[in-house]
Amino acid sequence: MSRRSAARTRNEPRWARVAAVSEVPAGGLRAVSTDRGAIVLANVDGDIYALEDRCSHQDYPLSAGELEDDELECSFHGARFDVCSGRALQLPAITPVRTFQVDVRDGDVYLRLD
Ligand code: FES
Repeated sequence: MSRRSAARTRNEPRWARVAAVSEVPAGGLRAVSTDRGAIVLANVDGDIYALEDRCSHQDYPLSAGELEDDELECSFHGARFDVCSGRALQLPAITPVRTFQVDVRDGDVYLRLD
């Protein structure tokens, strides 16, 4: 591989398949493991969103929580997050959780992990 093509490769987005769409229940959550750590997928009316699977309050897994419309409630102390933006909506969490770009192709869920 030439230096030029290696540089292009470094700058390209890195997508990884993490699940089949059918594995993310409608109105529900699914935890997946990636080399960027644990991520929780949320299915909101057929649209898939991805957030770091770690509550910004005390690091418990958000995948143990409940999805209500486009809000994910942490099951440990009740913080709520906007699944689209990761923004904290309710105490005790005050900082957002990281979100990831999602692409759905041929029935599979891909996340941008660069
Ligand atoms: S760990 Fe999520 S609200 Fe406390």
